[in-house]
Amino acid sequence: MTNESKWVLDALEELAFTAVKDGEYWRATYTKEDKESLILLEMWMKKKGFETYYDEVGNLFGRIKGNSDEIVLTGSHRDTVKNGGKYDGTLGVLSGIEVLSTLKKEYGKPEKTMEVVAMCEEEASRFLAGYVGSRAITGTLTEENLKEKDENGIMLKTAITESDYYRGKLPEGKKNINQFLELHIEQGAVLENSNMKIGIVTSIVGLIIGTVTFVGEQNHAGTTPMSLRKDPMPVTAKFITKLNEWAEQYCDKLTCTVGNIKVEPGQYNIIADRVTMTFDIRSSNNELLVEAEEYLLALANQLSGIVKVEVEVACFDRPIYMSSKGIETMEHIAKSGGYEYLVMSSGAGHDAQIIAEYCDTNMIFVPSVKGISHSPEEFTKTEDIEIGLKFMKEYLKEVGW
Ligand code: HGY
Ligand code: MN
Ligand code: MN
Repeated sequence: MTNESKWVLDALEELAFTAVKDGEYWRATYTKEDKESLILLEMWMKKKGFETYYDEVGNLFGRIKGNSDEIVLTGSHRDTVKNGGKYDGTLGVLSGIEVLSTLKKEYGKPEKTMEVVAMCEEEASRFLAGYVGSRAITGTLTEENLKEKDENGIMLKTAITESDYYRGKLPEGKKNINQFLELHIEQGAVLENSNMKIGIVTSIVGLIIGTVTFVGEQNHAGTTPMSLRKDPMPVTAKFITKLNEWAEQYCDKLTCTVGNIKVEPGQYNIIADRVTMTFDIRSSNNELLVEAEEYLLALANQLSGIVKVEVEVACFDRPIYMSSKGIETMEHIAKSGGYEYLVMSSGAGHDAQIIAEYCDTNMIFVPSVKGISHSPEEFTKTEDIEIGLKFMKEYLKEVGW
């Protein structure tokens, strides 16, 4: 095991430890778990020679000043999904810290200013707008996003303000970014099945995410005749069935997931007052995402009656291509370095898809064992992390020194 991969793996374990609360693994942003991870990350950055600073939403940056002010930014998100894995996001943050600090040790002051960022709230596991960190970096965070509420009714704006990062105005785009690089686990099994070790990402799927709320009338389960009910549950079931039938016609061109249903008040002997479901629809074809939004609204209209059906789109980000210049540089490095690599697209969403609207952006994938992710079974082998670090180091040396 190389020193670099040992440091990354040890740090990964330590960070994972801070994400466990009451036995559940989850690091949402602006929480105690998040604060604990920031103490570790900032300590590690400082120890490794970075200047550290925060922006208005609490992204933590580590900077190595270069001869020029042009910034090469690397990093990923520090937040996790509920009961998720310890590599998703965190591996990209720790790899950026380790690789940049090693390059500085070996090659001294860089040509460009090199920065690594631990971004917040990419997963939308607390605030459904998601990508809060990358939207702040690109100046695309909106007042609408800030109104998002978590499951306890706390608004994103309140959470940011109470964490005293927010200075009362929406963040403008970070200046002087020459390019962004994100190393991330693949979260699928394409690399493993093709026995490849490096994924050079060409594009990232577009996604439309939001909620559908079904408002009925709470009442007694035993004394309310079927003909007099305003029960949101059967309408919800019909909505989900029809939405899936619509999605299935597109086979592998689109994915459609209803990941959460909340029934209020949610007791066996009470006809529900309201049901709220989430939807997550993705495709590399933007027309299909536009059609998805139209279908959701039409279906809500069609099923609305004594039960009111309302669609709320929390985020709609189109499919995006990575920088062809970066892909070319990566392929050159892969070929001359004899790496087993694959040029591939991403079915998972990433901060890179937001930042790619703003500056040249590229991603490197490392394999996920059995393609498992967003699960405690998420795992990437040490030797694959080592190959990823080595490849990332060659790329960042090429573009930064
Ligand atoms: O959902 C995703 O694809 C990403 O992990 N946020
Ligand atoms: Mn994720
Ligand atoms: Mn991720």
